[in-house]
Amino acid sequence: MNTLLEDAQAAGASVGLTADRITLQGGKPLVGRIELKGAKNLVTKAMVAALLGETPSELRSVPEISDVRVVKGLLEVHGVKVSSVGDDTLLLDPSNVESAHFEVIDAYAGSSRIPILFCGPLLHRLGEAFIPDLGGCRIGDRPIDFHLDGLRRFGAVVDKQPQGIRLTAPNGLKGAKIELPYPSVGATEQVLLTAVRAEGTTELRNAAVEPEIMDLINILQKMGAIISVDTDRVIRIEGVERLEGYKHTALFDRNEAASWAAAALATNGDIFVGGARQSEMLTFLNVYRKVGGAFEIQDDGIRFFHPGGKLKPVIIETDVHPGFMTDWQQPLVVALTKAEGVSIVHETVYEQRFGFTDALVDMGAQIQLHRECLGGAECRFGQRNFNHSAVIVGPTELHGADVVVPDLRGGFSHLIAALSAEGTSTVSNVGIIARGYENFIEKLRALGADFVLEA
Ligand code: EPU
Repeated sequence: MNTLLEDAQAAGASVGLTADRITLQGGKPLVGRIELKGAKNLVTKAMVAALLGETPSELRSVPEISDVRVVKGLLEVHGVKVSSVGDDTLLLDPSNVESAHFEVIDAYAGSSRIPILFCGPLLHRLGEAFIPDLGGCRIGDRPIDFHLDGLRRFGAVVDKQPQGIRLTAPNGLKGAKIELPYPSVGATEQVLLTAVRAEGTTELRNAAVEPEIMDLINILQKMGAIISVDTDRVIRIEGVERLEGYKHTALFDRNEAASWAAAALATNGDIFVGGARQSEMLTFLNVYRKVGGAFEIQDDGIRFFHPGGKLKPVIIETDVHPGFMTDWQQPLVVALTKAEGVSIVHETVYEQRFGFTDALVDMGAQIQLHRECLGGAECRFGQRNFNHSAVIVGPTELHGADVVVPDLRGGFSHLIAALSAEGTSTVSNVGIIARGYENFIEKLRALGADFVLEA
């Protein structure tokens, strides 16, 4: 496993970011306009879906982030021809899909969790698949048991080896009845990508229904799949023998939108987020308004701003869609340090997603972490030893500090915190942020942030 710094450097370098550190001068509101592209958490899966088609696919609105580079590399080592057209369109030609060696997959997989989603498509195309040890943000244990149990139900044989996991399907893949113990995004995608070409019908219960999953279903339907979504987290898939390539413009990145919205609030700023849409962000917008943030919905995006006055504390419980996304919590916590009163954030999706708060405390925030489920219902982590509830007491004036980015969203929070703080901060390992935020350096510049990059 690489060190955090090596992961950060590799991620940054792949999208042309040579700096490891940023020194930021705080205290200036972020003001201006930025444009979103397709969602990281859809685009990478849409690229994998192209493996299932007999003809090439065209994916539009692809952001230049390192997670896209990783999936591009993994597709290429499996014989898929990936070429760029214009600024943000990828052509994916799966005419010559082939097996790849464990070591090569491992080398390309880097810090991503996407390799697990190659299993179903590769089992259909080649009869075998390998998964190396998975990376991804270190925000919890992140097991893959739901994925492997699901694949076994389709008839895959899972063989754990020292280098990773080898899967085969000696009798082909057959539709299955699967109930997820928790509505996991990745496991739902795994079942979808496997069921569409499995023989017979698959019924998935307790499925995740995030907008990114719905957009993946849109893509699969364009390819020829038959998928119905019931109201009670049940998805039914009738397997088909052949799928074609697709043409699709990816859903906007609502997690990035929420991050810039939080940045506007924390820095007393005003940011127009081009491409953001209301319907996929309803829950976020409600909380934003309760905290005291303002927004204006327009046809081409959403303006997020601090309308003046005091920010108010809130109680938030992160949850699967349509709840408050876990990915929104980290940037918003920075704004909550400025709210007048006690806020509570109960993280129920990942058991260790508060590592980033240490840096905020170093900057002067008053945040305490608790093992108990605070603020509402009991969650899966209540009886376990994880600090998964945060109590934030505000308002606090943050001051500059030297901090190290622990994970993608936590890293973005550190940038916002530094920009909202009094004085100078140095944020290290910023390459990690390039995994999911396209051109974040240019965007910060366009919004008037005061900073210098350091190698
Ligand atoms: N889980 C298991 N076993 C499994 C799979 C999941 O126990 O086999 C647990 C996880 O440990 C976690 C929970 O289920 O506690 C939810 O995990 P999920 O599978 O939903 O997450 P994921 O698919 O690994 C995606 C996004 C995350 C986002 C979550 C939740 C991608 C590449 N990642 O992760 O995005 O937070 O869904 O919406 O799509 C991010 O963008 O920063 C990020 C971490």
